[in-house]
Amino acid sequence: MGDANVTCMVTGAAGFIGSHLAERLVAEGYRVIGVDCFTDYYPRAVKERNVAGLRRHPRFTLAEVDLRTAELEPLLEGVDVVFHNAAMPGLMRSWTEFDEYMTCNLLATQRLLEAARHVGIQHFIHASTSSVYGRDSSGDETRPTRPISPYGITKLAAENLVRAYGENFGLPYTILRYFSIYGPRQRPDMGYYIFINAILKGEPITLFGDGEQSRGNTYVADCVEANLAAMKHGPTGDVFNIGGGEEITLNELVAKLESLIGRKAIIRRGPPRPGEQRRALADIRKAQAVLGWSPRVGLDEGLRAQIAWQRAELEASGWRE
Ligand SMILES: NC(=O)c1ccc[n+]([C@@H]2O[C@H](COP(=O)([O-])OP(=O)(O)OC[C@H]3O[C@@H](n4cnc5c(N)ncnc54)[C@H](O)[C@@H]3O)[C@@H](O)[C@H]2O)c1
Repeated sequence: MGDANVTCMVTGAAGFIGSHLAERLVAEGYRVIGVDCFTDYYPRAVKERNVAGLRRHPRFTLAEVDLRTAELEPLLEGVDVVFHNAAMPGLMRSWTEFDEYMTCNLLATQRLLEAARHVGIQHFIHASTSSVYGRDSSGDETRPTRPISPYGITKLAAENLVRAYGENFGLPYTILRYFSIYGPRQRPDMGYYIFINAILKGEPITLFGDGEQSRGNTYVADCVEANLAAMKHGPTGDVFNIGGGEEITLNELVAKLESLIGRKAIIRRGPPRPGEQRRALADIRKAQAVLGWSPRVGLDEGLRAQIAWQRAELEASGWRE
């Protein structure tokens, strides 16, 4: 059990991963301050549902502030561990909305780091991404970082900023590079979400490229456990790949979804998308060795949970199968 005297801040707490992380932390007994400004990347109503249960929890408070502009030091008073998950996610929009990515991913991180070092926290756990590697993210953390999307570039810059605060000011930190997270509450712009919705509703799905691009997707509860493992281990001043173990191509994934949902997909083919990774399979041996963390949830189990959640969301909106 966690300690009610330990206070955690989860930025991006109304988002997909942040809401699961905050729920897990309060369930463990920690006090949690969630921070989120409800960006319009996807509808506020979805984020409100993500955070609805948390809002009722006595150990949770939500600060609806924008990290780019809010006064952060008062918010960080008494905070022991910061889990920085707020960001503009996703590759595609980063080509056209660079300003949002630069400010939410970099400026916001700089402001949070600056406040954290002045207030003096115990651990800054930073959510990064496999997109920092570029077209191929297989291999371990020593693989060169060559991001090929503005999103990846801003996330890599944020990582470097965290490291710079560590080296210059002794800010205690750990960087976690997430590899394609899925599960209930997945963002509506993400591939699994789009495919599941389309197959459930009998609508066509578009596979970009040849469909042979592969992913080692990570179930959201495993990603959350990696954050807890990092907190329990204490600051490492290091970076870790956090990914699921099973590699699967898009074509294989669609076949799996068809069988789990019990309905054929209507497939259309589109051109490859600029900046999309060919392979994203995490080498997680460092996280296993140092943090003692391994993913536990298999793809079938994780997909079943996500399908059940999406079915319930659709039904709540009046849709009938
Ligand atoms: N989902 C994935 O597969 C994945 C993979 C790799 C890395 N990541 C990283 O994980 C983190 C969480 O991603 P997610 O998928 O949960 O995204 P999400 O969009 O669901 O959550 C991010 C939250 O941050 C909030 N936010 C953004 N800018 C803010 C600001 N300036 N001030 C306050 N709040 C702000 C948004 O309103 C949103 O609720 C991000 O840092 C993302 O880069 C996610």
